Amino acid sequence: MMKLKIDSAASGKAALEVLFFVKKSVQFSPVLSGKASAEVERILEKIESEVYGDLEIVEIENRKLIFVNAAKERGLSPLDHLRMAAYRLAKYAQKRQIECVNLFLADASAEQVKSVFHGLAYAGYSFDRYKSKPKKIFAVTFEIVAMERVKEFKKIAAEVETEQASITLARNLINTSGSDLPPAGMALEAEKVAKECGLKIKIRDMKALVKEGFNGLVTVGKGSKNEPRLVTLEYRPVKAVKGVHLGIVGKGITFDTGGLCLKPQNGMWEMISDMSGSAATLAAIRAVALLKLPVQVTAVLVLAENAIGAGAVLPGDIFKAKNGKTVMVDNTDAEGRLILSDGLSEAASYKVTHLIDLATLTGAMSRALGYAVTGFFANDEKLAEAVIESGKASCEKFWQMPLEEEYGDSLKTPFADMKNIGSEAGAVTAALFLKEFVPENIKWSHWDIAGTAFVTKEWKYTAFGATGIGVQTLIELARHLGNSHDK
Ligand code: BES
Ligand code: ZN
Ligand code: ZN
Repeated sequence: MMKLKIDSAASGKAALEVLFFVKKSVQFSPVLSGKASAEVERILEKIESEVYGDLEIVEIENRKLIFVNAAKERGLSPLDHLRMAAYRLAKYAQKRQIECVNLFLADASAEQVKSVFHGLAYAGYSFDRYKSKPKKIFAVTFEIVAMERVKEFKKIAAEVETEQASITLARNLINTSGSDLPPAGMALEAEKVAKECGLKIKIRDMKALVKEGFNGLVTVGKGSKNEPRLVTLEYRPVKAVKGVHLGIVGKGITFDTGGLCLKPQNGMWEMISDMSGSAATLAAIRAVALLKLPVQVTAVLVLAENAIGAGAVLPGDIFKAKNGKTVMVDNTDAEGRLILSDGLSEAASYKVTHLIDLATLTGAMSRALGYAVTGFFANDEKLAEAVIESGKASCEKFWQMPLEEEYGDSLKTPFADMKNIGSEAGAVTAALFLKEFVPENIKWSHWDIAGTAFVTKEWKYTAFGATGIGVQTLIELARHLGNSHDK
């Protein structure tokens, strides 16, 4: 855990003072004499002109000062540099068991302060559920010197704490094994969130799904003894913008074996993360509710295990989706789009105006954009812009992909209205499949997080495992929608 103490002045207890973050453009108030400032200036010049080491510690006027260099990472935005820098600084202090660190942030913009707090918080995460000896993270206190901006900084800190708790929730759920978190387990987690945040919740089990014709979930889920669930959460704030209702749908395959079209064994275990979309969805509605954002949100988690079993769906099987269209299952490993069809229909039935779905949907997207950039699709350019901007504010990169209709025919089959695989443009074809389940009057965007949800090496400020991708951008998007219209 990271401890933040926000005050107008320094207590004098800190063993380490952080005066600047390297890049000249984001330097903060030099609380130094003229002589020392010249020295600092010289160091900054040096840092500007070359790639510097990780952290540079210098002694000036008997004060131990630290300069944090974030310039090493190529391609990060200035805000993300700050997050990285703060993260490194926190790791540095944890490792050396420094109890108290001063940070002079009074000259930073609100956005910059938020980035620093996020970076510090990321350093406090570790996933210990399965460790016999949990890793002890030294609790460093960060004393934030805010001068006359104490109230503002405290508000930012509270916001970051709520967002980070949600991100941590998503990451913990994603990192949990498939057997320990089947669909019913995820539904239970959703119930906990609903209780915590005062959300209305509806959970449908296998019997209800069959009865109501949510056949995507039934078809994918029937091969496992861990039966599917459909969870719908409603956030209805007293004060909400009129005419805006955000729907979020998350893919929640609690484990993806591929079904009878079995996946190769190498790396199959990573499919514990095939419920990342639903984890992010749950985490986001939690934060939106706790932050009391003025926008209606309906979140839908489509939960199933894609397993091999006596009752498993066979290639060639045809089912009728919730919206009446018939689908032939050509490949049982293209299961995400089948359950999402139910999620999209469910969200649409709530008359949402804006609809986001998040899914670890295709290996094709992962190969196209890798772990650093999330590819997304949208049927509305204004929404696409809002996604990119919300991503920027969250230090999550989004890149728009085309909903190219030319590939639409590849989903045709003589026996049914459509099949579940098509052209070699795998990510685009998957998006075109989903589009069939979104009413045209809804502004819709599909985020394929297959490459960005889970990493098998440390990346930026996230360790091996779940990144929590999407949570912050969803919160930011809800903020944007809450602000952009009449209340
Ligand atoms: N869950 C996978 C996609 C995936 C792959 C996520 C790698 C994360 C990392 C999805 O269900 C899947 O298997 N998709 C197939 C679709 C294909 C059969 C058309 C794929 O991408 O190979
Ligand atoms: Zn699959
Ligand atoms: Zn999958």
